[in-house]
Amino acid sequence: MTKLLVVATGNPGKLREMQAYLADSGWELTLKPAELEIAETGDTFAANAHLKASQIAQATGNWAIADDSGLQIDALNGAPGVYSARYGQTDSDRIARVLRELGSEVNRQAQFVCVVAIATPDGSVVVQAEGICHGEILHTPRGDGGFGYDPIFYVPEKQLTFAQMAPDVKKSVSHRGKAFTALLPQLKTILS
Ligand code: IMP
Repeated sequence: MTKLLVVATGNPGKLREMQAYLADSGWELTLKPAELEIAETGDTFAANAHLKASQIAQATGNWAIADDSGLQIDALNGAPGVYSARYGQTDSDRIARVLRELGSEVNRQAQFVCVVAIATPDGSVVVQAEGICHGEILHTPRGDGGFGYDPIFYVPEKQLTFAQMAPDVKKSVSHRGKAFTALLPQLKTILS
């Protein structure tokens, strides 16, 4: 039996990754209606993921999945954090702002964090998973794949930025890949 799962995102980059990660889950994915906008008023990734999953589930009457994610830079005291999507108008504005704020700072340590939540049609969150990926912020962008801050996020373990990685490599190390890998067995259990 397949169940419908409404994906609570308007971000095409995130949607592409989520669809690939959930391809074998047994769930049938559908995108949330464009007019359904949820304000991300929480001050943690978990709070925002819960908020989005819960409200989209209630509004559509279906199960819903939401991910909230962002980049935390040590030398910027964790910024942009939950404000990652709102740090500028476009991806290149956001990257330029991060590079400007970091300047010639030597400590370039950073991490991407992702929290995924799944809510039942009545809005109760029944599954949550989290993934973290540690890396460094480069001085200049490198690579042209992916989305968001990918070109400036370098993963020493792979000696590549996220923007230089093939999708399966990004999945194996990224915050979202790890969170979804943790989530998949739980999603399969619900169907059985
Ligand atoms: P939100 O989860 O919709 O609040 O948006 C998170 C923001 O963090 C995105 O718009 C991107 O700017 C950034 N972000 C999250 N995950 C990634 C990623 O895998 N690569 C690059 N940027 C990301």
